[in-house]
Amino acid sequence: MVELGKTGEQVSQVSLGCMLMGSTIDAATSYAMLDCFVEDGGTFLDTANCYAWWVGKGEFVGDESEMLLGAWMQARGNRDDLFLATKTGARLTNPAGIRNAQGEVEWERVSGEYQGLAPDTIRRSVEDSLRRLRTDRIDLYYAHIDDRDTALDDTLDALNRLVEQGKVRFIGCSNYRTWRIERARAISAAHGWAHYVAAQQEYSYLRPKPGADFGVGAHVDGEMLDYFRANDEIALVAYSPLLKGIYDDAEKRARYYNWSLYDSDDSRARLEVLGKMAGALGVSNSQLVLAWLLHHQPQVIPIFGMSSKAQYEHNMAALNITLDDAQMAELNAASA
Ligand SMILES: NC(=O)c1ccc[n+]([C@@H]2O[C@H](COP(=O)([O-])OP(=O)(O)OC[C@H]3O[C@@H](n4cnc5c(N)ncnc54)[C@H](OP(=O)(O)O)[C@@H]3O)[C@@H](O)[C@H]2O)c1
Repeated sequence: MVELGKTGEQVSQVSLGCMLMGSTIDAATSYAMLDCFVEDGGTFLDTANCYAWWVGKGEFVGDESEMLLGAWMQARGNRDDLFLATKTGARLTNPAGIRNAQGEVEWERVSGEYQGLAPDTIRRSVEDSLRRLRTDRIDLYYAHIDDRDTALDDTLDALNRLVEQGKVRFIGCSNYRTWRIERARAISAAHGWAHYVAAQQEYSYLRPKPGADFGVGAHVDGEMLDYFRANDEIALVAYSPLLKGIYDDAEKRARYYNWSLYDSDDSRARLEVLGKMAGALGVSNSQLVLAWLLHHQPQVIPIFGMSSKAQYEHNMAALNITLDDAQMAELNAASA
């Protein structure tokens, strides 16, 4: 277990990414993975109020992951044993209207369709999430993507009210640039409001090329790491730590929709060092990436995803890998 920021709240060292549960991952497989996670001591679950509207041909709207978790928690009667995180702001205003006649998502329109973080939206969406999750409170409620059209003060005020009402215990942000995290911290502090205690950002062992465009996403960079080193009251939570499973599969790497952002000599140098060390340790590259994150300074809580119980077990085994300072230094130093 690790402390979430300086909240005094203990959460599991890894968070389980529940994004595809209830859509591409069927209920039986999802329940099996969730049960194992709890048996393995896991508490920290990650979902959002929009998972996963984009898969399939229009049969999903974004309610599915929260609904599956709500049903599973009710069936197991284990809500109080869990640390449940969900998010607001990245739900689409009309998921049904974002597809062409063939049912394919028109991605170029998506950024204009997010619900955003206006106070009314937050007030409505928390009620919807609580209903789907069949609970009376959310442990960690993230602003999912930054909304530059809404004043940060208004978003933070609305989130603070949810904390005061007991609907939300802690608040966090996701896909915020460093200066926005800091501005939010300053606004919350000035008003004496609840402040973001976690930032959920994309982060893995491979480094994106300079200037790589992640759209609404905000990838961790050197400045952000420096910020987290100096501000340990906010926890760094890393999403997509396995880069969708490309570390052990060169063909999948080439097919990865974001590979162009990573296709560099720096990535090749890091893959070489990673692969050699993984081979020497008798683990997979993916497992070593997770172990690297678990030994990382500043502290990182990785949220990994998986599509099968076998992948789940493989990833959880990374918790048993110990890396010494020299191994961490070697992995950190790898570069073109
Ligand atoms: N805040 C945000 O904006 C944001 C964005 C994205 C995700 N998230 C959160 O982060 C969680 C994880 O994200 P992610 O799914 O993108 O993360 P990820 O851990 O980078 O990728 C998960 C995918 O990697 C593959 N994989 C996992 N374990 C593997 C293994 N042992 N061997 C081979 N392949 C493996 C699987 O793909 P295949 O099915 O192809 O095998 C799996 O679906 C999500 O569930 C969600 O909760 C948040």
